[in-house]
This record gives sequence, structure tokens and C-alpha cells, in this order.
Amino acid sequence: MNKDPIITLENITVDFPVKGGIPFLPKKRLQAVSDVSFSVFPGETFGIVGESGCGKSTLANTMLGIVKPSVGEVTFKGKKLFDLSRKEFKSIRRDMQMIFQDPYSSLNPRFTVFQVIAEPMIISKSATEEEMVERVGELLELVGLSKDDMHRHPSDFSGGQQQRIAIARSIILNPDFLVCDEPVAALDVSVHAQILNLLQDIQERMDITYVLISHNLAMVKNICDRIVVMYLGKVMESGRSEHIFDHAKHPYTHALLSAVLDTNVEEERELVVLKGDIPSPIDPPKGCRFYQRCPYAMQGCRTIPVPQVEIDSGHHVACHYVNGFPEGDKPEDYDKRIEQAHEEANV
Ligand SMILES: Nc1ncnc2c1ncn2[C@@H]1O[C@H](COP(=O)(O)OP(=O)(O)OP(=O)(O)O)[C@@H](O)[C@H]1O
Ligand SMILES: [Mg+2]
Repeated sequence: MNKDPIITLENITVDFPVKGGIPFLPKKRLQAVSDVSFSVFPGETFGIVGESGCGKSTLANTMLGIVKPSVGEVTFKGKKLFDLSRKEFKSIRRDMQMIFQDPYSSLNPRFTVFQVIAEPMIISKSATEEEMVERVGELLELVGLSKDDMHRHPSDFSGGQQQRIAIARSIILNPDFLVCDEPVAALDVSVHAQILNLLQDIQERMDITYVLISHNLAMVKNICDRIVVMYLGKVMESGRSEHIFDHAKHPYTHALLSAVLDTNVEEERELVVLKGDIPSPIDPPKGCRFYQRCPYAMQGCRTIPVPQVEIDSGHHVACHYVNGFPEGDKPEDYDKRIEQAHEEANV
């Protein structure tokens, strides 16, 4: 791709202090996102996939300047987001919007639909009352509702309709970047396709770049151009959608695919069933974060850091099983390291 990226994340790490802990001992920190880098290009739909708690929303909030990373840089349209003055940030923030998982809690129940949708415009004082009524009416029709709905309240609508209202609100300022954080996860399955189709229609009409977040790899399959697969704050595999679906290499991606695809159709794919829950991101392992649940884990996976290796054009995998251990870091060293760690702990 020869266009400049709309947004670039460089080595983003986000950690949060852990409440409680033992007095006088240093406070523990939870690493929600660890060393994540990627760029999103104008017009594309970029997917972020992974189980609950892997850091998807934290990453989304970092992209929108809501959560400051502990390490790393976010550059939006050539500007470093966290170096901007309040005024500059406010103006650039109009170009980037977000849709949330639960539409109802994202819509102020005391407002009418008109107030909910027009609020970003009211705050930016960018239009007269008549212009806003006109624009809200247009947007309601664009998202499949009626102009007259603007006088009702969000609670009068079904979940799918509430998400349509939230979508109308997110596009009122003509953003060019929209992050959709699990946009259908809270909705009835029967309306998933309608909402996803609506988002695609809007993208075409308004030329918006999307980041689509989901725990469901099958859902993003036909929508996203490129995907990153995350586990416990780290990117495990990334690449073009077709690479991820047809030539997935990481055991974690295989596990996600095994969970969502029809195994009869996907006969040739290895079935990887994950046991156990995603572990705590407090004090994560130094090596691969997936090693505790990985059916192919080797000794060195626990301690040897895993580099991202490009195995095909734009297709990166972070896995010792797939790529072999980095030179000079031999798995045989694992036992020695453990012994050493035990000795140090005893001192
Ligand atoms: N403000 C916060 N303070 C402390 N910990 C947080 C905070 N926000 C998120 N976390 C923790 O960071 C980790 C990643 O959370 P995040 O919400 O980004 O995950 P997610 O992938 O969006 O999950 P889900 O699919 O359930 O929405 C979790 O362990 C979560 O508990
Ligand atoms: Mg989330």
C-alpha cells in the first residue's frame, strides 16, 4: 500500500496499577497491552480479534487518545496524538469516533433521539437548529429509521435500533476514522448481519476507515481487509484476512478458527480446542503469553521472548513452534534458567 497510514501505533504498551496488594511492597501493575505496533490505511477495515480481556478495548481507547500508553506513540494523520494541545486534540477528535458494544448504555436515556444524535454537533456549535434537525432526519433515514423517530427516547427502541441510533450519532460530524468495539456482541443474533451490512454501506458512502473489534473471528472474516489476533495484550498473528483464514499458522489462531468454523467444511484444518481460561495479565510470562494453553508449547516457550516473524508478505507470526527459537536462544537453556531462577529466589 503506498498511501500514508491514517493511524499508526508504535510499540504501544498500556499498564494499569493493580489495586490492593501488600503494604510496603511495590504495587503490581497489570499489562493490558504489550508492545503492539500496526498501521491502518485510509479506506480499509482493520480487525482486532481475541478473547475477552486480551486488551482490545484498551487498545481502541489508546487509538482514540482516551487512554495514554505507558510506552509508545500513536500517530493520527501525521500528528502524534499525545503531544497535541487540548485545542488541537479536540479538533482532531472530531475525525475519529467510536461505537460501543452496548448501545443502550452509550445513549443518554434522558435525551430524545434528536439530542442523542445531534449532541456532537451541539457541542461543536457547528450548525443552526434547523440544520441539525435536517441532518438528524437524514441520518435516521440513512441508518434505516424514520425522521419522526427523533422525538422519541432511546428506551423506546430495540437493541438493534439503538445501535442504529448510536451509529447515526457517530457519523454526524463526518469522521474519517471509526472504531467499532464489538458492535453486535450485545445484540440478538438475528440483527447481526443487518448492523454489519449497515456499517459496510456507510463505509462505502462516506469513505470511512474502520477498526472493527470482535472476539469472533468468523464475524470479521468477510468484512476486514487485515486482522491482528491478540492474546493477553500481545499480537500473536497478523496479516491479510485471507492469510489468516486460509493459512493461519499460530496455534492460538487455529484455536479461534476451530471454535467458529464448521469442521466438516474445514476438514484439513487442525482442530485445536483450548482448555482453561485466559490467565491474569499481572506478571505475564517473559516468553510466549499463550504457552500455558498451547498444545504445542515447548520448554523454551515459557522464558524466551517471541519475536514477530514475517512468514509471507505482510503475514507476521509470533510463535516459537512455527518459527523456531531465535538464534542464540536455545530451548535447552530453559532448564538452566529455571534452576537459576530457583537459586536466586532462595537467596
Ligand atoms: N481502567 C482499568 N484499570 C485496570 N485494569 C483495566 C482497566 N481497563 C482494562 N483493564 C484490564 O486490562 C485487561 C484488558 O481489558 P480490555 O477491556 O482492554 O479487554 P477486551 O479485550 O476489550 O475484553 P472484552 O472482550 O471483555 O471487552 C483486562 O485484564 C482488564 O481487566
Ligand atoms: Mg472490550
